[in-house]
Parts: sequence; C-alpha cells; structure tokens
Amino acid sequence: MYLTKEEERAYDGEQGWANQMCMKILVRLGELYGASRLIPASWAHVSGVSYKTLGDSPIDFLKAMANTGAKVSTRATLNPQSLDPEYLKRKVTSELLEKQLSIIEQFDKMGFTQSLTCTPYYLEKSEAGSHLAWAESSAVVFANSVLKSWTNREGGPSALAAAITGKTPNYGVHHAENRQPQVFVDIDLPLRNETEYGALGVFLGRMLRDRIPAIKGLDNAPEIGLKQLGAGLASTGMVNMFEWNDVTAEKTAHANERITIERRDVDDTIEGLSTSADMEADLVFVGCPHCSVHEIECVAAMIENRKVKPGLEFWVCTSQCAKQQAKKSVERIEKSGGHVLTGVCTVVSWTEALGIRTIMTNSAKTAYYAPTLNKAKTILAPAEKCVQAAFRG
Ligand code: F3S
Repeated sequence: MYLTKEEERAYDGEQGWANQMCMKILVRLGELYGASRLIPASWAHVSGVSYKTLGDSPIDFLKAMANTGAKVSTRATLNPQSLDPEYLKRKVTSELLEKQLSIIEQFDKMGFTQSLTCTPYYLEKSEAGSHLAWAESSAVVFANSVLKSWTNREGGPSALAAAITGKTPNYGVHHAENRQPQVFVDIDLPLRNETEYGALGVFLGRMLRDRIPAIKGLDNAPEIGLKQLGAGLASTGMVNMFEWNDVTAEKTAHANERITIERRDVDDTIEGLSTSADMEADLVFVGCPHCSVHEIECVAAMIENRKVKPGLEFWVCTSQCAKQQAKKSVERIEKSGGHVLTGVCTVVSWTEALGIRTIMTNSAKTAYYAPTLNKAKTILAPAEKCVQAAFRG
C-alpha cells in the first residue's frame, strides 16, 4: 500500500504512539482488503461507545490513546452510550455509571463531538460523493444509499483510527465500480409502514449477504422507510448500500440475479421477529435508529392527551439535538408518562437490570437484536400500534 512521506513518518512512530497505532490499524485493514492508498475521510463516526457492548478491555486502550495526546483531525462523532443523562443514569449501579462516564471522558479528551446518536445524518447531512469512515451499520447504509456519500462499514477501531488520522483506506465502496448493484429486487407489494420496510431489510439481508441490491418499487418510499430498510439490511447482512431511486436497466447492467419479494416474505419476517406469545410488553420503544424531529412529532400526535398504562415503560430514543428541536412534542410525550431519552437506545442499554422482559417496538433491527442483547421477548409492530398498546384509552 502506498503511503505518503508524512504517513510513513506517522507509521514509524514519529508523530507519537497514538498516531502510529491508528496508522497501523488503517494500513493493516487496507492491505487486507486490497487498498492502494489512504484517502481523506471528511467524517468519522465511531461505534462501540456503550459500556454494555464495549466491555472492559478496550477502555485501557482508549485511555492510552487519550493520555498520549491523540486528537481528532476530521469531523468525529459518536454512537449511543448505555444510558441517558437523566432517566437511566439514575437507575444503573455506580460501577456501570463510572465505567460509562470514563469511556465518554476518553472520547471527549480526544475531541469527539458528543453526538451520541446512530443517526448522525440528522445533525448534518453528509455531502453526496464525500468519503466517510462510519461504523454504525444502519448509518452506513443510509449514507451510501440515500445521501449518496461513500463509506465502508467500519469497525469501532478503524473508525477511531480514521477520526485521529483523518484518513481511510480506499477499498470497497470508495470505488465507483464496487457500488454497482449485483442483484435486481422487484417488490411486488405496497409497503404500508416503517415496520414493513425494516422487515424487508431483514429478509433481504439474509439472502444477499454482501451483494448490493437494486430495488425496484421504492421510488416514492418515505425517508423513514428507507432508514428502516437499511437498518434491517445491515442487521442480517453485510450489505453497505442499496440502489432504490430510478432503477433503470443501465443501473442494473451488472445484476445477474433477480429476486421478487412477495407479501408473505414480509409478513413471515415480522412474525418471526415477534417472539412473544402475547401482546403484553414491559417496554414499548420507538427510536431505532434514533428518531428524527419529524418522527418525535408524529409519536406525540398519536399520543394526543392519553397516559402511559401503569407499570409500563414508553421510550422514544433520539439525539440531544433532535430533542431540543422537538420541544413541544417532547413535553407532550413526557407529560403522558413516556420518556424521550437522548444518547442511548434500548439495545445498548441495561434493560435486563430494569426487569424488562418483553419489548414492543416498530424497529425490525431492535426486534432482531433484543432476544440476544437484551434477553427479551419481542413484539414487532408499527409505531401506531406501539402507541395504542402503551397508552390508555
Ligand atoms: Fe441505533 Fe441502537 Fe438501533 S444504536 S440503530 S437505536 S440498536
């Protein structure tokens, strides 16, 4: 792999241990995937911020990085952590709180923006054609497919290395020829809500693995549908993107396989992701991936003036920034007994310790992960049904 003189000096340790480590991570990765050089990354987004998913071992590495003066050299944002600064913070043990705060402190020292969201594109849209190094899989698919930015699916360490060096290896979807759809997907049904889009993603992810689909029938899909589809796709597969608008013969010239999606594919997927035998949930959750301002407003409008059923938790997860912008809707949700939690999500939080055994959600991604990561049963249904189930009247 070709390195500039300056990159070589960093690789040899002339710019300190932290820069050397980062350069080694990127070069190793680049060599593994056949990159010819490093290219500037205009935005790095790091996952593995929640202590629940990160665990203890990487904390020492983060401390070493921060203490040896590592500083971000490009725009650098963070995925959600395991608690929010108000509600859940009061419910976790002091040990968990301390560990989580320590992780955030290290990122803070390195100069990361404390975005703590898996929808960084709601903070600011990345530019079409810009090269990113994002590690949140749902955001990667959204960036490549909807925003038309270019990013591989980074791991936590390589996104961190990209944040510090401002570089990423030029392999995978950083090349136009690797962004060609390989499978043509025809959707022979109307997708009626966000949950069906997510389920379609889960279904397709299992079939496609890492092959890029061109999906016909999504020209009028709402943004939330595309977001849920991408999140589902990235949960069960390694797909980095999908082609969805204006799917022409020219765009599908390299697609040598054709799949037709039928109603029962989506319905069976939703049924398979609903593991609870009844409709009784302890927690009803909307906000995977994190809600936009518009989604928060929609949830508040559905609630009207009703109250959360006794003994039930109702969470809407989003970023601090979206919560501030949706003030009136947030007030309505919180008045009803629900919680608008920032910087956290159900999957990466300690729901088990809160006694939550059954989670109802509109997100196929959460329904896919909750049985293993939250040891919870699941009910998958659109937001409207989630609200109906959570509120009296
Ligand atoms: Fe985001 Fe958590 Fe879902 S990080 S994509 S809300 S699992």
